Amino acid sequence: MKVVVLTGAGVSAESGVPTFRDADGLWEGHRVEDVATPEAYDLQPSVVHRFYDARRAALAGVEPNDAHRALAVLEEALGDDLLVVTQNIDDLHERGGSTRVLHMHGELRSALCRGCRSRVAWTEDLGDYPPCPRCGVSELRPDVVWFGEIPYEMDRIMAALEEADVFVSIGTSGAVYPAAGFVQYAAAGGARTVELNLEPSAGSHLFDDARHGPASVLVPAFVRELLG
Ligand code: APR
Repeated sequence: MKVVVLTGAGVSAESGVPTFRDADGLWEGHRVEDVATPEAYDLQPSVVHRFYDARRAALAGVEPNDAHRALAVLEEALGDDLLVVTQNIDDLHERGGSTRVLHMHGELRSALCRGCRSRVAWTEDLGDYPPCPRCGVSELRPDVVWFGEIPYEMDRIMAALEEADVFVSIGTSGAVYPAAGFVQYAAAGGARTVELNLEPSAGSHLFDDARHGPASVLVPAFVRELLG
């Protein structure tokens, strides 16, 4: 059984990581869309750095929850037949025990050099313009895929969706493409499709099965069912 799991901000919400489009999803009065663009970075890099530096620093104070841990249990059982594709830039899947994770929207604990294009592991602030450890140029930006940029790993993701027997979407509003279209792509390839979300997402009706409630409850139950 080949399974592809797509996760969004909702899988980390119970760990205390704010989602984007729920009530508390604003930051200092900015809509996330206003800081998460290359244009915003060109115009006001310090504002964009403050936003991501704060989110990176906040990772130290959060822990994975039962949803992340249940996906690690699923990986133990399925091995290479499980792929977790996350839109999240936190590292809670990895800290919850998952190893086969693709961060299609990048990672907070990574920096991207605008000089040499290297992606380097990064845990400190970027707002004080540190030099790139590879090329020495002070052009490190958050290694995050902004609106208008192309997500990472699309070839591997599309290939896995084509082969999937089961596609599960967890904690995502279905507002942002291309991830919002994965359900239709997986279904066209013959996968059974399941949504696990706090409330019906924009694309809820596209799934064979949609279950609504907190991820920390729904995901462990679904994993037990899948492995049962
Ligand atoms: N359990 C399950 N689902 C939850 C929970 C929870 N405890 N809490 C919230 N949710 C659901 C919300 O109902 C919502 O549908 O998670 C979803 C979060 O949606 P968004 O905030 O839009 O986050 P996401 O879908 O991950 O956003 C996609 O948009 O801003 C960009 O690049 C950013 O990766 C992000 C992308």
